[in-house]
Amino acid sequence: MEKTFLMVKPDGVQRNLIGEIVGRFEAKGFQLVGAKLMQIPTELAEEHYGEHKERPFFGELVEFITSGPVFAMVWEGENVISTARLLVGATNPKESAPGTIRGDFALTVGKNIIHGSDAPESAEREIGLFFKQEELVSYKKDANNWIN
Ligand code: TYD
Ligand code: MG
Repeated sequence: MEKTFLMVKPDGVQRNLIGEIVGRFEAKGFQLVGAKLMQIPTELAEEHYGEHKERPFFGELVEFITSGPVFAMVWEGENVISTARLLVGATNPKESAPGTIRGDFALTVGKNIIHGSDAPESAEREIGLFFKQEELVSYKKDANNWIN
């Protein structure tokens, strides 16, 4: 089954949005298969956001994502990578639709509450960066019978 990496950023943790965000993915029908509250070391932040290394906002981005604890998660389900991105909303909250996480809770691109992998390759890479294989679980929920 497809998996993606989602992370409540430090602003989301500070604003007590972990439960709200987890609830949205649960309600959609996705299944949580790994999660941890953690402080990201600078080297991991730089690696995670490596694709943006040359961008002018890279320094601030790394500083922000390491400024406090994040809630890192792996979610599983049909088309979870692209559908989770829809629930997350556009990168810049000026453009993210109401009803999306960023559309409902964020104002600025620098503090946009949540990260979500954007493709199968990045999902695999990011899950591997943040989780050991043995930190992920595999299980069946009866409730899935009602939505699949
Ligand atoms: P990006 O991967 O483009 O967005 P997304 O998080 O939707 O995959 O950028 C990563 C993060 O970098 C983004 O969530 C917020 C930050 N960022 C800025 O601070 N300024 C910017 O102009 C952009 C494009 C991103
Ligand atoms: Mg991205």
